[in-house]
Amino acid sequence: MNNRYKVAALAFASLWVFTIGVFAYFFVFGVGRMGPDDREIINVTAGEKQFLLKEMRQLLEATQQIHEALGTGQREQAALAAESVGMGMVQELAAVESTILLKLPVPMKELGLGTHREFDNLARTIRSDASEKQIMKEMGELMTRCTACHASYRLP
Ligand code: HEC
Repeated sequence: MNNRYKVAALAFASLWVFTIGVFAYFFVFGVGRMGPDDREIINVTAGEKQFLLKEMRQLLEATQQIHEALGTGQREQAALAAESVGMGMVQELAAVESTILLKLPVPMKELGLGTHREFDNLARTIRSDASEKQIMKEMGELMTRCTACHASYRLP
C-alpha cells in the first residue's frame, strides 16, 4: 500500500477511536460538575429539568397514595398506585426521555430505572398475602433509592 494511504488510514482510525472514546466517556460519566453542596449538578436543559421534576412529583404522589390506600385497607388501590410509576411509566416516557437518559451518569441511570422496577415489585408484594409490616419494609428499602439519588445529584 502507498505510504500516503497508510497515513490517511491511520488518521481515520485514530479519529474513530477518539470519537468512540468521547462518546463512551459521556455515556458512563454523563454531563455533570460538582456543586457547592458536594452534589453533582446534572447539566440538563430547562425543559428537561421541568420534565424530570414532574416525574419526581409523580413518584411522591404515588408514595402518598400507597400509604393512604394501605391505611384504609385498600390493597388493590395501593398496588395500582405503585404500578402507575413502575416500568410502564419508563416505557411511556422513553421516546422523550432517551436524550435525557444519555446525559445521566450510569449510577444515576441505574438508581432511576431501579426505582421504577422496585415499584413493580412492590405492587406484586401488595397483591400477595404479604403482611403490612413486610410491605412497609419493602417500601422503606425502595425509598433508600430516592434518598441516595437526592444526596448525590441535583439539577442546574
Ligand atoms: C435517579 C435519581 C433520583 C431518584 C431515584 C429519585 N429522585 Fe427525586 N429528584 C432527583 C433530582 C436530581 C431532583 C432535583 C433535586 C435538586 O435539583 O435539588 C429530584 C427532585 C425531587 C422532588 C422535587 C420535585 C420538584 O418539583 O421540585 C421530589 C418531590 C422528588 N424528587 C421525589 C422523589 C421520590 C419520592 C423518589 C423515590 C420514590 C425519588 N424522588 C427518586 C433525582 C432522583
